[in-house]
Amino acid sequence: MPAAAVKLDRDNVIGATDPRLFGAFIEHLGRCVYGGIYEPGHPQADAQGFRKDVLALVRELSVTIMRYPGGNFVSGYNWEDGVGPREARPRRLDLAWMSTEPNTFGTNEFIDWCRAAAIEPMLAVNLGTRGGDAARNLVEYCNHPGGTAWSELRRKHGWDQPHGVKFWCLGNEADGWWQMEAKTATEYGRIATEAAKMMKWVDPTIELAACGSSGRTMPTFGTWEDVVLEHTFEHVEYISLHTYLNNYANDAAAFLASPDLMDDFIDEVVAIADAVAARRRSDKRIMLSFDEWNVWYRTRRNRAERTKPGWPVAPEILEEPYTMLDALTFGGAALALLNHADRVKAACLAQLVNVIAPIMTQTGGPAWRQTIFYPFADFSNLGRGNVLRAVVDCPTYAASYFDPRGTVEAYYPLPTVPYLKLSAVHDAKAGTLTLFCLNRHLSQALTLEVATKGFASPRVARAHQLCDKDLSALNTRDQPDRIKPVPLKDVRVEGAAVRATLAPASWNVVRLAV
Ligand code: AHR
Repeated sequence: MPAAAVKLDRDNVIGATDPRLFGAFIEHLGRCVYGGIYEPGHPQADAQGFRKDVLALVRELSVTIMRYPGGNFVSGYNWEDGVGPREARPRRLDLAWMSTEPNTFGTNEFIDWCRAAAIEPMLAVNLGTRGGDAARNLVEYCNHPGGTAWSELRRKHGWDQPHGVKFWCLGNEADGWWQMEAKTATEYGRIATEAAKMMKWVDPTIELAACGSSGRTMPTFGTWEDVVLEHTFEHVEYISLHTYLNNYANDAAAFLASPDLMDDFIDEVVAIADAVAARRRSDKRIMLSFDEWNVWYRTRRNRAERTKPGWPVAPEILEEPYTMLDALTFGGAALALLNHADRVKAACLAQLVNVIAPIMTQTGGPAWRQTIFYPFADFSNLGRGNVLRAVVDCPTYAASYFDPRGTVEAYYPLPTVPYLKLSAVHDAKAGTLTLFCLNRHLSQALTLEVATKGFASPRVARAHQLCDKDLSALNTRDQPDRIKPVPLKDVRVEGAAVRATLAPASWNVVRLAV
């Protein structure tokens, strides 16, 4: 049986997790909004049409911040279409997802939904078909108290108090050919800078994220970040990263290794951001907003697979079914985020409901948890605190990961993948040390020994695992609990050492009281 030895020191801290690390994403896409969070007439809908069964599941996830309204959708969105009396709102063609957008849900409904869910809103502005003028007007509409045309319009629409939205995304995936009015880095850098200036002149308290590359495999990755930050450096606090992990090659070992490429991606973006700072002799540090991350491949590959003919409203698209294996890779991705808590200060699981989502619904019917729901709930509920720098000594394997994202189809070599991927989070206030452990060995259990330093008499408060012999098993409407966490039995503390046996291909969480 392979063994992993881990050393942890209470004083050796990577960084504190920012609450915004545990965010998610709602786009006007498929049944994410309509039939997802919002379904007037559903037996579980409240007076505003918000599905209470969905809200209850969202609360279980303890999501902290929600990105909206896109995504690709935002690059063609007129935010004015989604406010004011519903009967006067226009129906529009959405060219991102080849759908009809009824606009019966818009910015104000989103803010109300966030309040109902106790989640901070994160708004994206359209820097595709529109620009700085529409963006600054939206900031004024949302955040200005009153006495101007846009702020008074909000009040007339029924929202007397300003929304106070703090976190704004400057467009979406502007580097991607699939984006409405995609741009070169220089074009985007200029437009983002001018929009940022005006948005902050309207409300100097807001924080802004510039678009980074829509994936590490984009041919422009690296140059894009450099040029965009050269333009926007003084005006933004964050640069965005997006990653969707895949198993197109049907290679479970490589798929499980792929979250390590997210670690590389983060390190590379940090290096570029800091190089831009160095050129300016600036001590400002641009933080990372990993505002789209997930596993996504079955419903992704080409536009024809991602849309339905006839311009439908809320079509069933991107309804990715998530297996046990997907949940493991997903958990590994969450660990990559935790282990960069010093620089990744916001992140959004893309997306929340129905569309590549932890929560599924049937329109008119029930809601249930997909497999990825559980690692996210662990990450979000138990990942608050100081992430410790773990020294991991563990056997490794070699993998080669295929990624067709963007225009570069390539195999990425991963020569030394530790079977164990681990994060350790210390919450001094709660008196807990939580170990998140992914055993990537497909056929063998892993013996884990964690030596802890600086913690007085740790004891196991709770321990559970997610695993199943059938890696293709999933949860469905008719079998919603096929995959769910079960207690992790073989775990004990001996002095300052924690010992456990991790089943093959398993996600494990050990929470110690310290
Ligand atoms: O989350 C689905 C899509 O993936 C988003 O709209 C886009 O930003 C990305 O390409």
